[in-house]
Amino acid sequence: MEFITFEQQDFVGIITINRPKALNALNSSVLEELDQTLDQVDLSNTRCLILTGAGDKSFVAGADIGEMSTLTKAEGEAFGKKGNDVFRKLETFPIPVIAAINGFALGGGCEIAMSCDIRICSDNAVFGQPEVGLGITPGFGGTQRLARTVGVGMAKQMIYTGRNIKSDEAFRIGLVNAVYPQEELMDAAKKLASTISMNAPIAVRNCKKAINDGLQVDMDAAIVIEEKLFGDCFETEDQKAGMGNFLEKDKEKKLKVVPFQNK
Ligand code: CAA
Repeated sequence: MEFITFEQQDFVGIITINRPKALNALNSSVLEELDQTLDQVDLSNTRCLILTGAGDKSFVAGADIGEMSTLTKAEGEAFGKKGNDVFRKLETFPIPVIAAINGFALGGGCEIAMSCDIRICSDNAVFGQPEVGLGITPGFGGTQRLARTVGVGMAKQMIYTGRNIKSDEAFRIGLVNAVYPQEELMDAAKKLASTISMNAPIAVRNCKKAINDGLQVDMDAAIVIEEKLFGDCFETEDQKAGMGNFLEKDKEKKLKVVPFQNK
């Protein structure tokens, strides 16, 4: 692949968008390669993904403005769908995805980060949806996910003004969970991913599905989704071993040594 690298470290897969000359902007090729990369993740051996950008300046500086500049109405809609399809694949990916935001996260960069389960960033990170300054709306889910992530009022203010915000403000409004010095960001992301990957993997996947699916329906339907996914866990070796270990008070055997069960 030209623009995406994938590295496996134990149960953690690290996806890097690698187009630093254009500050990792998302053109069609980057989107296609990201789609293929997700399809190729070995889910029998990967429990958490980290998504980051190459270099120390930019996570993703948005969709590629050069590529978009000549699009027709129909082509614009198709480009939006291309990004949305990949981002939705990321959002509904069976295992958690952590965005390690190492600099600019503008337009499509902020949008791809919001498609991840958890966002942490470096102190030089900058977020924004500057699209209205380019004569367009956010097109890779920003109008929908920003409102759901930081609330309608703040999302509308950011989107209507096109104003960028720094990492401290992103933390204050809940757009990121934590801010780290640039040189500590990847270690923090790996530590978080490792902590997640030490827990019972089917239970973690079911948690993701319960939260994501439950947020799309009313509370009565949502708790039924949870009940089913909770019930599913009782068919797993992880549940038997995890609870057995607790009841045996076997401190040596924590969930981390529970054998991975692939459904
Ligand atoms: N698309 C294409 N190329 C981009 C890009 C983008 N979104 N962002 C940066 N680049 C390119 C620049 O054109 C430049 O290339 P050259 O060296 O060939 O000229 C290179 O990356 C470095 O960029 P700058 O020289 O501009 O770097 P800077 O440090 O002066 O500024 C920046 C950095 C503030 C991020 C600035 O590059 C910038 O404002 N970029 C555009 C950000 C943006 O508007 N993003 C939203 C795009 S629209 C969108 O994403 C729509 C959607 O929702 C789907």
